Amino acid sequence: MSENSLNYLSKEKINVAVLGAAGVVGQVFVQALSHHAWFTLAAVIGSDSKAGKLYSAETQWLLPSPLPEPATKLILENLDMDSLKKRGIRIIFSALPAEAAKTIEPTLREKGFYIFSNAGALRYEKDVPILIPEVNPEALANIKNQGFPNKGFVVTNANCSTTGLAVALAPLKKFGIKEVFVSTYQSISGAGYPGLASFDIMNNTIPYIQGEEEKMIVELEKILELGAAVYPHCVRVPVLFGHLETVWLSFEKPVETDDIRGAWQKFECAHPGLPSLPLHPVVYSDESRFPQSKMSFWGSPSGMQVFTGRLRKEKERVGFSLLVNNLVKGAAGGAIANAELFLHTYGYECGLNTGGQEVNDEKDRG
Ligand SMILES: NC(=O)c1ccc[n+]([C@@H]2O[C@H](COP(=O)([O-])OP(=O)(O)OC[C@H]3O[C@@H](n4cnc5c(N)ncnc54)[C@H](OP(=O)(O)O)[C@@H]3O)[C@@H](O)[C@H]2O)c1
Repeated sequence: MSENSLNYLSKEKINVAVLGAAGVVGQVFVQALSHHAWFTLAAVIGSDSKAGKLYSAETQWLLPSPLPEPATKLILENLDMDSLKKRGIRIIFSALPAEAAKTIEPTLREKGFYIFSNAGALRYEKDVPILIPEVNPEALANIKNQGFPNKGFVVTNANCSTTGLAVALAPLKKFGIKEVFVSTYQSISGAGYPGLASFDIMNNTIPYIQGEEEKMIVELEKILELGAAVYPHCVRVPVLFGHLETVWLSFEKPVETDDIRGAWQKFECAHPGLPSLPLHPVVYSDESRFPQSKMSFWGSPSGMQVFTGRLRKEKERVGFSLLVNNLVKGAAGGAIANAELFLHTYGYECGLNTGGQEVNDEKDRG
């Protein structure tokens, strides 16, 4: 969290909840929200069987840094919308599996909650934005088509490997991207916990991840509107964190590697003062072995920058590698940044800047 973070809100922090808090993405939410400048983690919600139990006891903590001290006292709850409302919680971060999200997220939206979701369930609804603040901040306005500010809404972030690719391609869009050939090397944390059986992934790579290639094609177009042909291969590799990707691009116009390098260097986030967003979304290095999966928590804020390297031109195609942290930028950190952009844009409009105020029924909201 940067010292210079914009503070558009009142001094009181905003109570938020995390759904699916014990899962691997849920853990990144718990970690990031335990010390967030604008949010207080007021409720951690898990499956019914864990309700009433200590979060730390019920969670197989998987992240490289320890469970933050404030989170050691959290008790897992089941989803009780009335109780959330009574505690002034209107913003909910969802780390639910898609199947559960399919029914739970629309119900929460119907009840007036603001959902920032990692699940794929509602991503393709016309008025549900797939939002990456550095890339398509204008997509946030779609929440009005869902009925905001009189009703709740769902904002999603992209599938994790699509997020890294969209960030790297956003500043190159001006060159007229015609084709995208991408191969991913995706870590096992991308499959959740417990994820794959060790027998399947130890000492192995698997050239198929169900639904992943289709998601990249559809989501990249919804986010960037490139009109490009996209050819993905998605592969699971035996590393814990970080999705590496190798990319070849062809363009409408002649493009040199210096143009690409320059576009990444000049690419700045329009909202760098939001607590979770970096000023430079893409970090490029000419170092021949950069980037690598083990660097996925590098950067500032940690895990929120996309690393690129190995830039070269062959015939008319430009190739490069990229690394995205699937759990941070590609999941929880991305959703938190989306909520920050929402507050920055609409915080006063929806009364959230008043902090700690009880949330009443839908009709009571401005
Ligand atoms: N992992 C990634 O890199 C990544 C990246 C981007 C997006 N996503 C998406 O993020 C979501 C979460 O992924 P994940 O990797 O964290 O999965 P995960 O490790 O399997 O965690 C899912 C969590 O949801 C809880 N849960 C399931 N049904 C529930 C319900 N009805 N009510 C409350 N909690 C419920 C589970 O609780 P129990 O443990 O008690 O069953 C579990 O803790 C998925 O939609 C995934 O596609 C993941």
